[in-house]
Amino acid sequence: MSLKTKYGATALVAGASEGIGAAFATRLAAEGFGLILIARRQEPLQKLADALSDKYKVSVRCIVCDLSDEGVSEHIAASLEGTEIDILVYNAALSHIGSFIGHPSEGHNQAARLNMITPMNLVHHFGGKMVEKGRGAVVMMSSMAGFQGSGFLATYAATKAFNRVLAESLWYEWKDKGVDIIACCAGATVTPGYIRSAPGKVSLLAPAAQKPEDVVRECFTRLGRRPSFISGGGNRFASFIMQRLLPRITAVKIMGDNTRKMYRL
Ligand SMILES: NC(=O)c1ccc[n+]([C@@H]2O[C@H](COP(=O)([O-])OP(=O)(O)OC[C@H]3O[C@@H](n4cnc5c(N)ncnc54)[C@H](OP(=O)(O)O)[C@@H]3O)[C@@H](O)[C@H]2O)c1
Repeated sequence: MSLKTKYGATALVAGASEGIGAAFATRLAAEGFGLILIARRQEPLQKLADALSDKYKVSVRCIVCDLSDEGVSEHIAASLEGTEIDILVYNAALSHIGSFIGHPSEGHNQAARLNMITPMNLVHHFGGKMVEKGRGAVVMMSSMAGFQGSGFLATYAATKAFNRVLAESLWYEWKDKGVDIIACCAGATVTPGYIRSAPGKVSLLAPAAQKPEDVVRECFTRLGRRPSFISGGGNRFASFIMQRLLPRITAVKIMGDNTRKMYRL
């Protein structure tokens, strides 16, 4: 069954102008969904919106706002009053790479709002409406970093664990209500944000970085079948070793050591 037949006609992608969010928007436009796209920078967002509406003949509306602002979920809900959202993809995230105390606490608060509070509020609002009508889907972006303590990515990793646990919990609550929700746990993915972070090579055995389109394809294959998944065969293999075979202390040390090496800390 196509995504449109199963879920409806309109998708909201929060954090949509580039990278994995843009790949979600592109795939959903290709499936015929009308789109609402959110990001802070008007220009790249509008450029993507124009390209998608031209190519796929779908309606695309942009909302330019900062998803880490307090009260932003209420603003989005009010802007979309009367618009039914059938698929919600929450993609935007902030990750501070470096020592926890070396970064001002307002930065950690901002990451907590962007990565946890806003998605929780949007899922509460739009997911609630999906449950009322008995149809819909939610994708929450998570990360391999959220499976164990990840030194030098501390707040980011903790917020990504939150997303996964929230999605898995709601999967259970909603599994008989017609609403699918999944946490998409990505590993390294070649996005503009990832490239800007300038990661070094950790080891020849590290899983290869994925393309955003591949993460999206894997996600939609698994949506409705499981509460969460790890994207990429290499990442699934690495996770099996880290989570199932190694003691937790070793997994935490490997994560911290790799991050230090990758970002020359
Ligand atoms: N890339 C990876 O290697 C990787 C690995 C694991 C997990 N992930 C997860 O995958 C998701 C996407 O990652 P990504 O690398 O594609 O991109 P990203 O750099 O995290 O964000 C991409 C999109 O989010 C928007 N955005 C960022 N902050 C925002 C804010 N405060 N308010 C509104 N929009 C905002 C950006 O547009 P504007 O800048 O215009 O706002 C952009 O369109 C994240 O949740 C990340 O945790 C990524």
